[in-house]
Amino acid sequence: MEVSNSELHEVSRLYREHISPDLGRLMKFGGPGSLEVSAQDCRVVDHLGRSYLDLAGGYGVFSLGHAHPEVVAAVQAQLQQLPLSSRVMLSPPQAYLARDLAATAPGRLQYCFFCNSGAEAVEGALKLARLATARPALVACHNSYHGKTMGALSVTGREGYRQPFEPLIPQVHFVDFGDVGQLKASLTSQVAAFIVEPIQGEGGIYVAPPGYLETARQLCTERGVLLIADEVQCGLGRSGRMFAVEHWGVQPDILVLAKALGGGVVPAGAIVGTPEVWKALKGRPLLHTSTFGGNPLACVAGRKTLEILQRDQLPAKAERDGNWLIGQLSKLAAEFPQLIAQVRGLGLMIGVEMAREEFAGSLINELLKRHLLAVYTLNQPKVIRLEPPLTISSDDLQQAVDCWRQALAATAERFLVVR
Ligand SMILES: Cc1ncc(COP(=O)(O)O)c(C=O)c1O
Repeated sequence: MEVSNSELHEVSRLYREHISPDLGRLMKFGGPGSLEVSAQDCRVVDHLGRSYLDLAGGYGVFSLGHAHPEVVAAVQAQLQQLPLSSRVMLSPPQAYLARDLAATAPGRLQYCFFCNSGAEAVEGALKLARLATARPALVACHNSYHGKTMGALSVTGREGYRQPFEPLIPQVHFVDFGDVGQLKASLTSQVAAFIVEPIQGEGGIYVAPPGYLETARQLCTERGVLLIADEVQCGLGRSGRMFAVEHWGVQPDILVLAKALGGGVVPAGAIVGTPEVWKALKGRPLLHTSTFGGNPLACVAGRKTLEILQRDQLPAKAERDGNWLIGQLSKLAAEFPQLIAQVRGLGLMIGVEMAREEFAGSLINELLKRHLLAVYTLNQPKVIRLEPPLTISSDDLQQAVDCWRQALAATAERFLVVR
């Protein structure tokens, strides 16, 4: 379906007048802007019928690509049968997804609570940790991102997001990601949990350094602190393992998921925890609830997602493709050393840190002109992330690298060439 440029103007006006005076402008990335009209697999089509290769992947939502036909079919069948549950009777889709997640998750993660987003999952995990330990304090990392609701924001390591809403929840202590000494000093007998992203996403794609998560696990166990792994962005195959913690053989007490869990079709989030953690809810299962969490549509989407990730061995493919892509981007970094400061990542969660923020802005624009979707990370606008669908073909990956080369050349021409 093609819609006209006049609809673009109308939608821009409606954004300005009814959504946000600034957001619409921001989403135009300095250009005339586009309306998102349809999407399939790795491609998003705009109002002029232009097809964009999606290297942003909805920040981890579209791990199966857009509108995966099997997920859509499962959701459509459920839609006809029972879209939302009464919540008075038991829900088979919820029970089956919980079983499948428990079978897939590492270690003794066995109990699930379902919700609708990443922040909601983090909220629940923090509450559960306080309940299970009867301790008030929390430890989180600088530069982390866990969401923007009050609790999740309280453990998000970006001052600019937190400060306007203070006072937030008390007794949150921040440590540098990867610094064992700081962690050791902060895990006191008052601490309920240490929450950490195994790969910081919005922080600029930083992979936990070797030994860090293993030591964190050991310290938490010794001190009765729960380890919460936030795999909202890096989980479900993206890092090259089904769960990123598996790279380090670490078993968290609580695992937090969202984004890819809904198969790119339905919003879904989950908290997965050990029996010890869940003991805190014994006799009071209604202490933490959500009306829409674990709805049948989200649960069938989640089950189908797990099935496809495993059947098509997408974590292993992400590892192979990620290694290739990091190699290619590193070559580009060598070709354009004045533009690119560093390439880093794991699997198909890759960050390219530009030498200057204005280079990143220009590059995203040049990539868009070449019909490639790219975005920077929220806490670090200098870092452009690549999180394509795990289903991406070799041809599309090659096309992405070719576009990057052209976009880098155009950016170099704009900023570096002395005329
Ligand atoms: C690691 C991590 N945790 C939590 C969240 C919050 O998820 P949501 O935006 O669905 O609330 C995000 C979102 O980017 C995230 O990357």
